Amino acid sequence: MGEFELLERDGLARLGRFATPHGTIQTPALLPVVHPDPARQPIPPREIRRRFGLGAVITSAYITFRTPTLRPIAEEKGIHGLLDFDGPVMTDSGAFQQHAYGHVEVGPEEIDAFQRRIGTDIATVLDVFVEPDASEEEARRGVEATIERARAARPLHRGLLAVPVQGGRYPDLRRRSAAEASPLGDVLAVGGVVPLMERYRFAELARAILAARPALAPERAVHLFGTGHPMTFAFAALFGVDLFDSSAYLKFARRGDLMFPHGTVAIGDLRERTCRCALCEAMPLTEVAHLPPVERERRIAEHNLLMSAAEVSEVRQAIRDGSLWELVERRAANHPALLAGLRATIRGTRVFLPTEPESRRSFRVVSATSGLRPSVIRFLAHKDGWQEGRGPFRAHPRIPLVPAALRTTPTRTRDGAEIWWQVLTSFGPVPLELTELYPVGCAVGFEEFEGEETPPTRPDLGDLEVEPDRDWSDAWTVRHRDALLEWLYGREAAGELAARGLSGERSRRTGRLRALTLDARKAFTIGNDGVPRPTWHGAQVLHRILRYPARRIIVQPEAEEFVAEGRSLFSRFVAGGDSSLVPGASALLVDADDDLLAVGRLLLAPPEMGRMPRGVAVRVTAHARAPEGPEDAEAPAGPEEGTGLPPNLQP
Ligand code: GUN
Ligand code: ZN
Repeated sequence: MGEFELLERDGLARLGRFATPHGTIQTPALLPVVHPDPARQPIPPREIRRRFGLGAVITSAYITFRTPTLRPIAEEKGIHGLLDFDGPVMTDSGAFQQHAYGHVEVGPEEIDAFQRRIGTDIATVLDVFVEPDASEEEARRGVEATIERARAARPLHRGLLAVPVQGGRYPDLRRRSAAEASPLGDVLAVGGVVPLMERYRFAELARAILAARPALAPERAVHLFGTGHPMTFAFAALFGVDLFDSSAYLKFARRGDLMFPHGTVAIGDLRERTCRCALCEAMPLTEVAHLPPVERERRIAEHNLLMSAAEVSEVRQAIRDGSLWELVERRAANHPALLAGLRATIRGTRVFLPTEPESRRSFRVVSATSGLRPSVIRFLAHKDGWQEGRGPFRAHPRIPLVPAALRTTPTRTRDGAEIWWQVLTSFGPVPLELTELYPVGCAVGFEEFEGEETPPTRPDLGDLEVEPDRDWSDAWTVRHRDALLEWLYGREAAGELAARGLSGERSRRTGRLRALTLDARKAFTIGNDGVPRPTWHGAQVLHRILRYPARRIIVQPEAEEFVAEGRSLFSRFVAGGDSSLVPGASALLVDADDDLLAVGRLLLAPPEMGRMPRGVAVRVTAHARAPEGPEDAEAPAGPEEGTGLPPNLQP
């Protein structure tokens, strides 16, 4: 219990499971804030679960404690009895009331003991709410007091404990708060940000989370206090927030405001049936506006909760699809304040790089900031390294109407000089050899839909040696092979691999490089992301060439047998490995003596392995005990093949 298990991911964003005494929370999850007094809660928790599919809630232990009519019921029947709800319940401690009223009428030990007494699933340490505009000294005191209270509370809790992360707008304090909370909390709850959300100060919010993020232990669930509006959920998830709470669905309803993922609409302004959700089908919002106040408020709260639940689903699906950055960019287009938040996020790219996947299924350009996603930044940096010592580069002609000539890529001029080509892509000039790699190869940008202003003419090929052949030339295939191997394994290892006589196989239909073979057996298969992935045969060759511990993940003895038989490698059985690997990358799974057991693809980043107590670290794709096993049949999955030409050369 209290262990976070990661199931799927998109960068820092995670789809996971978090077990509590009253059931497992599927994350990312929205925990609606419910009032502990059933008479003051317009939608009962059971209904929230049944009708909106939100299975866990958060309520205030502080209000329960301070309300004479509620406290005895909670002490007698427990918090679940008071709420009439048997799902996971998280309780908050009163720091929010400190923010709202300037003080709290309870001591940290008192509210801690109360939360244990009422059987909450996740108790929260009473933190000191640090306002965004607090001085550094105030912020430091807030962080220190919060940590001190967490240290006092931890040994008393057998159950789950949320430890707040404070620090105001001071990155060092945010980092320290996160680092000290990490060993104490089952849930690490980033706090002190409600005023930022309320005033749309999303850039500052992004900076606060960016500062804390690298210090938050990956094996803990991360909560963001007061996430509130559905338009911010995708953002929160992007940073790896697993749990968010919202009282906004109620607060907005009280003042007649409708929440949508694209923003807020005052119900009085609605004249058209813009929402056709099931609720609004039954009664259009234009009619809801005329209901008596209590009924109207409940009905708007339901609408807001439904929109919030739908947005959580949207976020979860985006994580599965690997399209969360795209969703965030779409949401950011809805308000300049969110765009400011996105720009601040981009300035923190280095926070995303260790978990940035090697590739995704696709790359769609959504906005002007799309070309600044971490995947692009990393690609361009790697490309600069690859280009060193090569060139000079010539601009590759955009020749949509000369397929025959272009399909044979000239590597030499008529007088034998080597040619280095650069293609102008959505991300700037990219060497032709690298244009099938993610993110370039599967990018869908607007350029290719712009059409030509003037009809293209057949270019003058001048000094180029071109065979008018529909197939790509052997010379080019060799260049392409060497480029990819060097991209992955460095110049020296690529040279050794090439010397063994790996040959490239192209798709007859698209011309794309699809496999590398050695001794008439597939050694690497190449999917839509353009990345060569070793088969068992290829892994054996790589293993001989790459020096330990390059490209390896080391398996603990207890798991050797399982891994060699093709079972996934679990996080707790990882003994170490190459820290430069990223999620999605292929790795050699070896034992402590560097004997090769299997080859697989990373789900976790190396720094996360061993730390996450549960779940898979590496999914095995081919293994020792079945040398002719499924790996040769299996081509990496991907969507259907494109035309095989780089984006700017698409016909
Ligand atoms: N609710 C909203 N913000 C906070 C916070 O910073 N701490 C706690 N405990 N609850 C909150
Ligand atoms: Zn609706």
